[in-house]
Amino acid sequence: MQKNENNQTCRKVAVVTGANRGIGAQVSRQLARQGIHVIVTARQLPQAQQLVDEIVSEGGSAEGFCLEVSSPQNAHALCEYLRQHHGRLDILVNNAGIAVDQWVSGFDVSLDVMAQTFNTNVTGVLNCCQQLMPLMREGGYGRVVNVSTELASLTGMELGSTVAYRTSKAALNALTKLLSLELKDEPGILINAACPGWVKTDLGGDQAPRTVAEGADTIVWLATLPAGAGSGGLYRDREPYPW
Ligand SMILES: NC(=O)c1ccc[n+]([C@@H]2O[C@H](COP(=O)([O-])OP(=O)(O)OC[C@H]3O[C@@H](n4cnc5c(N)ncnc54)[C@H](OP(=O)(O)O)[C@@H]3O)[C@@H](O)[C@H]2O)c1
Repeated sequence: MQKNENNQTCRKVAVVTGANRGIGAQVSRQLARQGIHVIVTARQLPQAQQLVDEIVSEGGSAEGFCLEVSSPQNAHALCEYLRQHHGRLDILVNNAGIAVDQWVSGFDVSLDVMAQTFNTNVTGVLNCCQQLMPLMREGGYGRVVNVSTELASLTGMELGSTVAYRTSKAALNALTKLLSLELKDEPGILINAACPGWVKTDLGGDQAPRTVAEGADTIVWLATLPAGAGSGGLYRDREPYPW
C-alpha cells in the first residue's frame, strides 16, 4: 500500500460493518472496484478474510478486521489500527443490522428482542460513529452511510408489525439527522441514510426482488458523494425518500 510522507495511505480508506455477507459484502466489492481500500469487518475474522481474498484476486485492495459493532473495545481497536496503518478514514458504511422479529406484533415482541435489536441497529451504529469518526473529522473529509429501510419511514408507515426492527431503523434515521446537524460546520463530512429496497439476502429472504448489486447501489453512491452534496437525508434509488 502506497503511503505519503505523513505515513498516510494514498487511496481512500473505507470501513464497512457486517461486510462478510449480503449487502455489506457487495458494498465492499463495489467500493474496492472504485479503487478504494476497504476494511472488510465481520464478527468472525475468517469470514471477512474470504471476501478480502476475493477482492484482492480481482485486483482490489482490502483487509479484514474483527468488529462486533456494539463493542467499544472492538471499534476502538479498529480506530487505533487505522490511525497507525493508514492515518485516515474516509468512508464508514454502517451496514450491520438484524431483523429477528419479522412479522411479530408489537404486542408480542419480547423486551429482550427489542433490546438486542436496538443494541445492534442503533447503539452499534452510534458506537462506530463515536469511535471512528474522530479520525475522519481530523482529515476534514468523510462520508458516512447508515443503512436503513423504507419500512421505518413514518410517512409511509403501514401495518406489517416487525416492531423492533422498524422502530430501531426509525431511531437510526433520527440519529443520522441529529449527527448531521452536529456536523453542520464541517462541510467535508456528510452523513446520510440509505434504503436498499427489498434485497435477496439472509435477512431479506428468497422472495426479495432486488439483487445485492441493486441494494448496494444507493449506499455506494452516498459513500462516494462529491463535495457540496447534501447531508442529513434519507435516500432510496439515489433520490430523497421521506422520513
Ligand atoms: N435485505 C433487505 O431486504 C434489506 C432491506 C432494507 C434494509 N436492509 C438493511 O441492510 C443491512 C444489511 O442487511 P442484509 O440484508 O445484507 O442482511 P444479512 O445478509 O443478514 O447480513 C447482516 C450482516 O450484519 C452482520 N451483523 C449483525 N449483527 C452484527 C453485530 N452485532 N456486529 C457486527 N456485525 C453484525 C452480520 O454478521 P454475522 O454473519 O456475524 O451475523 C452480517 O454480516 C441491514 O442493516 C439491514 O437492516 C436490508
